[in-house]
Amino acid sequence: MPEEYIMYNEKVMEVFKNPQHMGEVENYNAIGTVGNEVCGDIMQITMRIEDGIIKDAKFKTFGCAAAVASSSTATGMIIGKTIEEALKLTNKQVIEELQGLPPQKIHCSVLAEDAIRLAIDNYLQNQNAAK
Ligand code: FES
Repeated sequence: MPEEYIMYNEKVMEVFKNPQHMGEVENYNAIGTVGNEVCGDIMQITMRIEDGIIKDAKFKTFGCAAAVASSSTATGMIIGKTIEEALKLTNKQVIEELQGLPPQKIHCSVLAEDAIRLAIDNYLQNQNAAK
């Protein structure tokens, strides 16, 4: 369905128009990139993790309004959290924070959850490789 026919709630539109945590974390030590095969959209999350705590997280999203709003919200929800807490973040929690997404846009929020998991995996692999 073309983007212009999708009705987003006010909260999603507000976050989409003023996204937080956009870009790339300087000196990041965790990076995760995921793509959606169906729509072709891509999301990348970078983080700076120190002593198991996510000190900073930023995103770059080449995707729809729901993907931008989800990544902005998800990065905001994991900053200051431990790796374990961040791994528990689900797209359902992101959707709740956004006060809902249209059914055909649920998959966009999964990108954020997946990108966070991949970034943490990347960090843990690098930590193990350095041992
Ligand atoms: Fe592709 Fe939303 S339509 S992420």
